[in-house]
Amino acid sequence: MKNYDNVVVFDHPLIRHKIAILRDEKTSTKEFRELVEEITTLMTYECFKDVPTVEKEVTTPLETCTQQVVKDNSVAIVPILRAGLGMVNGIHALFPSARVGHIGMYRDEETLQPQSYYCKLPYDIDEEDKMVLLVDPMLATGGSACDAIDLLKKRGCKHIKFMAIIGAPEGVSRVAEAHPDVKIYVSTLDRCLNEHGYILPGLGDAGDRLFGTK
Ligand code: PRP
Ligand code: URA
Repeated sequence: MKNYDNVVVFDHPLIRHKIAILRDEKTSTKEFRELVEEITTLMTYECFKDVPTVEKEVTTPLETCTQQVVKDNSVAIVPILRAGLGMVNGIHALFPSARVGHIGMYRDEETLQPQSYYCKLPYDIDEEDKMVLLVDPMLATGGSACDAIDLLKKRGCKHIKFMAIIGAPEGVSRVAEAHPDVKIYVSTLDRCLNEHGYILPGLGDAGDRLFGTK
């Protein structure tokens, strides 16, 4: 895959270790859910290096000093249903008060085209310096992510980041080229897609593994 300025691929042994367990077909639904949350928290730490901050006076037992703190209400989380839901708690671990919007999409099994069925976003998602973090564990063809970003832009979102746990080169390139202003974070880049649009080696169907539906 070509290098893109707007793509960050994590290369961290702790994340690689957790992803190895996540991929394993023997990993239980409970452990899968916990790992998705933990990996998401680790990624969030890096992803928000540039979150807006404000100065605040803090009085220690010795003196008063000025400190940088995260600006109130500066982040919104938007999971793509269903599998993106599994990442929300992992971000709330660092931004407990972040408001959450939901975009419902599923891929048509034949055409692999995303079908949109739901959208409810926080009323203030279009605020000037709001960072909107769109999340979905799987970035396969990139169709769902591209459509979800288009939708967020139509609703006035200005600073969008997209976070996926596993990306296929095809999908990462597609989103990076369609939305050069959106920073894309994937914790690992896999080999390719199979003929059904599944990521190889991947982890199977993330929604089914998170919610135990298969
Ligand atoms: C999966 C995944 C993404 C999408 C990725 O969802 O969670 O949303 O596929 O594929 P793409 O990059 O080719 O668009 P799915 O359609 O299986 O729906 P689900 O989360 O409801 O199971
Ligand atoms: N969606 C998934 O859940 N897994 C894949 O490998 C591709 C799309």
